[in-house]
Amino acid sequence: MDVNRDQIIAWENQYESGVYGKQSIVLVRGRGARVWDMDGTEYIDCIGGHGAAAMGHAHPAIVTAVQAQAERLFLAPNGFYNDMRAQCLAELVRVAPPGLNRAFLCNSGTEAVEAALKFARLVTGRTKIVSTMRGFHGRSMGALSTTWRKEYREPFEPLIPDVTFVPYNRLERMAGVIDATTAAVIVEVIQGEGGVYPGTAEFLAGTQALCREHGALFIVDEIQTGIGRTGKLFASEHFDLRPDLMTVAKSIAGGIPMGSTLIGERLGEIPGHVHGSTFGGNPLACAAALATLHAMEAEGLPQRAATLGARLMDGLRALDNPAIREVRGMGLMVGMELKEHSAPYLAALAEQGVLALPAGATVMRFLPPLVISEQDIDTVIEKVALVLGS
Ligand SMILES: Cc1ncc(COP(=O)(O)O)c(C=O)c1O
Repeated sequence: MDVNRDQIIAWENQYESGVYGKQSIVLVRGRGARVWDMDGTEYIDCIGGHGAAAMGHAHPAIVTAVQAQAERLFLAPNGFYNDMRAQCLAELVRVAPPGLNRAFLCNSGTEAVEAALKFARLVTGRTKIVSTMRGFHGRSMGALSTTWRKEYREPFEPLIPDVTFVPYNRLERMAGVIDATTAAVIVEVIQGEGGVYPGTAEFLAGTQALCREHGALFIVDEIQTGIGRTGKLFASEHFDLRPDLMTVAKSIAGGIPMGSTLIGERLGEIPGHVHGSTFGGNPLACAAALATLHAMEAEGLPQRAATLGARLMDGLRALDNPAIREVRGMGLMVGMELKEHSAPYLAALAEQGVLALPAGATVMRFLPPLVISEQDIDTVIEKVALVLGS
């Protein structure tokens, strides 16, 4: 069927739930770090599927793996074994921080968090969860209960009880709330949606130590920081963290929907039938994840993220523009905080052919595919300079 741009926009406006704000761009094609709208206008994609496109669009190894698997088998229920699932699980555990030796496979970030919270409550027999102010962990009821922004939470209260929030990077405040009733603490290594705030070694390692001391579980949410984006496969590696539970999603299957909750030794046995997911661990997503993990290693993409992220941050800092309050981040997870609202600048940047996203009201966030070229990074810096009037 031939549909034109206006028809597409009208249908989405009319028939979609209404929960999303939208820009009037109809994306139809992508390759590497570029996407195109239906009129052929090209964009450098620093939104990258909200950080899910670390491998870039239409990565050949992932396309081949998905095509081959689609011709063999889409679905293999979890009551059976499957070659792709087995290999994907083994590879995930191989690359994960030491001590994480099993995984629950699902389909999104919020589901991965949901499983982590359920497992934590189940094995500790405790209910208290500690999360952080500005933290974002998803939108389903459990994950939402640990998400900070009140605009997301309040319309759905009462949420799950016994969740406490402490200021991020304030270890003394964390020490004041973790106790013998705490099932788990959940933290991001770099707060993404909250404004791209990197955690300090003192806070992250200190929180882990407090968890061990009080018999609580340490959940690290790597949904946005994993995989490869911060310059290491998992951001936990920068601080030598040993999470008891680690949540991964977004880029893990090269853009095909997948989530995973990695499970550490301290959890012991998870009893049968306490959790599950129809599509979790489906062969199509597992084939994509396997191809992603292999290609990420073979192409040295984490190192590339470190080098190009430094280039982007140095370039943005060098603009020395009075509108910029701070440039911060790690690898290709970069936030540029302005002294005013970022929305008009993001719209102007899109007009200039660069897509970037907000993080809170004043931060412009850049989450480009890790395969982005040096020239594209330089173009992004130039275009930012242009819209800020540097
Ligand atoms: C750190 C973090 N946790 C959880 C989520 C939720 O993931 P999803 O949108 O796949 O449910 C996100 C999404 O942005 C995230 O950044």
